[in-house]
Amino acid sequence: MCSIIGYKGQLIVAPLLVDSLKRMEYRGYDSVGIATINNGKILVKKGVGKVLDVNRRLDLSNMGGHAGIGHTRWATHGSITEKNAHPHYCCTDSMAIVHNGIIENHRVLMKELIDLGHVFKSDTDSEVIAHLLERYYAEQKNIKSSMIKTCKRLKGDYAFVAALEDGTICGSRCNEPLMIGSVDTGFFISSDILGFIRYTDKAIFLENRDIVVIDSKTLQIYDPDGNPVNRSLTQVAWELAAIDKGKYSHYTLKEIHEQPFIVEKVGVQNLDKIEEFCNILRNSKTVFLTGSGTSYHCALIAKHILSNFAKIHAETMISSEFQYTLSGIDNTSVLLAFSQSGETADVLQAVNAAKRMGAKVLSIVNVPTSSLARISDSFLTIECGPEIGVAATKSFTAQLSLTYMIVDELCNGYLGFKINRQILVDALQEALAAENEIHGIAEKLRDARDIYVLGRSIHYPIALEGALKIKELSYIHAEGIAAGELKHGPLALIDVNSYVIIVNPNDTTSDNNIASAHEIKARGATIIGISNKPDEVYDIFIKIPFIKCNIIYPIIEVLPLQILAYYLSLVKNVDPDYPRNLAKSVTVR
Ligand code: F6R
Repeated sequence: MCSIIGYKGQLIVAPLLVDSLKRMEYRGYDSVGIATINNGKILVKKGVGKVLDVNRRLDLSNMGGHAGIGHTRWATHGSITEKNAHPHYCCTDSMAIVHNGIIENHRVLMKELIDLGHVFKSDTDSEVIAHLLERYYAEQKNIKSSMIKTCKRLKGDYAFVAALEDGTICGSRCNEPLMIGSVDTGFFISSDILGFIRYTDKAIFLENRDIVVIDSKTLQIYDPDGNPVNRSLTQVAWELAAIDKGKYSHYTLKEIHEQPFIVEKVGVQNLDKIEEFCNILRNSKTVFLTGSGTSYHCALIAKHILSNFAKIHAETMISSEFQYTLSGIDNTSVLLAFSQSGETADVLQAVNAAKRMGAKVLSIVNVPTSSLARISDSFLTIECGPEIGVAATKSFTAQLSLTYMIVDELCNGYLGFKINRQILVDALQEALAAENEIHGIAEKLRDARDIYVLGRSIHYPIALEGALKIKELSYIHAEGIAAGELKHGPLALIDVNSYVIIVNPNDTTSDNNIASAHEIKARGATIIGISNKPDEVYDIFIKIPFIKCNIIYPIIEVLPLQILAYYLSLVKNVDPDYPRNLAKSVTVR
C-alpha cells in the first residue's frame, strides 16, 4: 500500500526522505510527495509518478529543513493526480500529513469539518486527518491532546504522520504498520524497516493506537488516553539494507535467480522451531490453511501434502473469504497462515477471526517483525531477504520449501525433501538455464489475448500461480484451470488463437494431461508443455530437469512460469517490478 516516512534530527531531511521513499516504493507507486519544515514554514512538493521521475522533475531532494515527512501512494480514494498525492495540508498550511490505510468515516468527518469552515483540496479520505488535527490544535495549542482527540475520531485502519510548522513530527497507527528508527542524529518514523535500515538497525515497533510525538530532541510514546508507555528497542537484521539489483535489469529477475540459494538454506537454522510447529500441527484436530494470492497457492500445496502424506486433516480457505466460513473452527483447530509481508489485511483479519474462535495460530512469514508474526502463537521465517518486485517469486519457493520441510518432518522423511534438497537446488539452477529459450517463447506469445495454464493434483496450484504471474506482470488475460475441469466448460473458450500451457511433469497425472492436450489441440490451440518428458502433442516444449522425487516438482515447475511472465512483461513493455494498480503489501481490505 502507501509508504510513509518521517525524520527529525540534525541532518538535512529532504535527501533522506527521497532515499527512504525509493527503498519503500514497492509499497505503492502512483505518486510521491514530501514536506519539510524550514524556518517555521512547511514546504510541500508532490507529483504523479515514481520517486525517481518526480524527484527529477521537482528536485525533491533540494528542500531545506531538518524535519519532514514523505509518502508514496497507492490510490484508494481519489484518482491518481497531483492534488490527491500526499502530503496533505490543513487550511492554514501550518501542518501537513501523510497517511496509509482507509479512514472509513471520512465522509461524516468531512461534513462536520466543512460545516466548521474547513476547505478540502483533495478527493482523498486522508485529508480529513490534517483538518481534524488543525481543529483540535486550535483549541489548546497542544499537539499531544490534539493527537488523542483526532485518533479517537478516526474509524478504520490507518497509520499517519503529521509535520507541524514548529518542527514537531507526530504519528499514530491502527492496524497499519508504523515503526521508529533510532539514529544518533535523531529519529525516523516509517511504515517499513526498509525506510531507515540503511541508517540504523534499532527499531521501536509501535503498538496499535500508540501515539508518538517527536519534538526538539525527545521522543514520547503514549497510549490512546495519553499515558506515557515504554516500547522496547528491537535490533533488526542489517542484511535488509542490501537491496540493489546487482547485475540484473529488474528486481523481479534478480529475485527469480536467487531461488536456488534460498531453497538451499531455508529452515536449516530453525530446526527447533520446526519441531515446535510439528508438535502443534500433530496435536490439532483440523489444520486450516490460509493466505492471499501467491501465498494462498502455497496453502493449497500445503493442504495437499499435509493431508496426503502427513495424514493431518487440513482445509484451505482464501483469507478474504475466511470470515464467511468460520464454522468448524474451535480450540482444537490450528490456523496456519502464509504471508510474505505479514501485513496483508485479509490475512490478519482471518487470523484474528480464528483467534476469536479459540484456534491456535501458526504463521510462515518473511518479515519476522510483521504484525502477523507478532500475533501468531508461533511463527517461522522464510528468510529470503526483502522481496522488492511486486510479484511474489522467491518468497513463494521459500514458503513452499519450508512447508515441504515441515511436512517431511511430520512424516519421518517420507516426502524426501530433506535428503533430496541438494538435487532440488541443482535442478533449480538447471531450470534457470532455460531463460533465453523462454525469452524466445515470450516473443512468440507477445500478441496472445488469452493464456490458459492447466495442471492436475499438486500441479494445479502451480497452474493458478503461473496464470497469476502472467496476468499481473504482462496484463495478458491468463487463467489457471484444473485440467480435469476443461471439458466442464472452459473448452468452449479454446480456438486457434488460444495458448495453453500444461504443467505436466512425468508422474501419475501425466497421461491424463496428455489426453487433455490432445482435446485442446483438436480445437486448434497452441500447446506449451512444461515437463521433464517431451511429447509430440506439445507445439512448444519447456524442459525441466528430471528428479526422482516427483512430489517436489512444484518447486521446480513454477520457475519457467515466472521467467515466462517476466519476459512477457518486457515484450509487452511493462515494468515487471511495478505492475500497474498493484502494491506489494496489501494492507487494506
Ligand atoms: C502475487 C502477489 C500477491 C501476494 C498477496 C499476498 O504475485 O504478490 O498475490 O501474494 O498479496 O501477500 P503476502 O504474501 O504478503 O500476504
